[in-house]
Amino acid sequence: MKIKYFDHAATTPVKEEVLEEMLTFLGEKCGNPSSLYSLGREAKRGMEEARKRVASLMNCEPNEVYFTGGGSESDNMAIKGIAYANSGKGRHIITSKIEHPAVLHTCQKLERKGFKVTYLDVNKNGIVELEELRRTIRNDTILISIMSVNNEIGTIQPIYEISQIAKMYNIIFHTDGVQACRTYSYRCEKNGDRYVISIWT
Ligand SMILES: Cc1ncc(COP(=O)(O)O)c(C=O)c1O
Repeated sequence: MKIKYFDHAATTPVKEEVLEEMLTFLGEKCGNPSSLYSLGREAKRGMEEARKRVASLMNCEPNEVYFTGGGSESDNMAIKGIAYANSGKGRHIITSKIEHPAVLHTCQKLERKGFKVTYLDVNKNGIVELEELRRTIRNDTILISIMSVNNEIGTIQPIYEISQIAKMYNIIFHTDGVQACRTYSYRCEKNGDRYVISIWT
């Protein structure tokens, strides 16, 4: 039986050229990048090269790029990291009702730790309303987390505008980019001491 696969947003084959590069590091250059001997140093060079390439795609500095095991780990690390590091300033977080469970469950966990979370509705087109977002910002808001592209309905959120609003109110902005980075390009622009971030096709 021939299978037609339409669920590439769930998981998709790795591009040939990516696979080729990765196989080297999964095979003959499999050293631990923290090791001091040559195989480890070579793996470390590969990792730093990858870091530079990601930074150049994002228009940020290589030392601002962190690799994790996957999307859920990244969301967890970013949201909990920002929440706990800023809990002295405030404990209010804004997100949307249509985030991936990796974000929703992390926010629910934080609620059990005493944080307050506002879950924004989306409009009939599946988009977060900027006015609604502005209205929910409070003096103790420390984080706005809105996904770039939704994993079920594919809607693209206005993350450039949201990141500008966050900057205006001196609030940290996080975006879950799992569904975006395969299809869209990101661009970070340094604006004072903060980045604003945009995506395009
Ligand atoms: C929008 C979004 N965020 C987070 C995740 C979780 O990523 P991972 O499966 O790599 O943990 C997914 C997975 O499909 C996703 O679509």
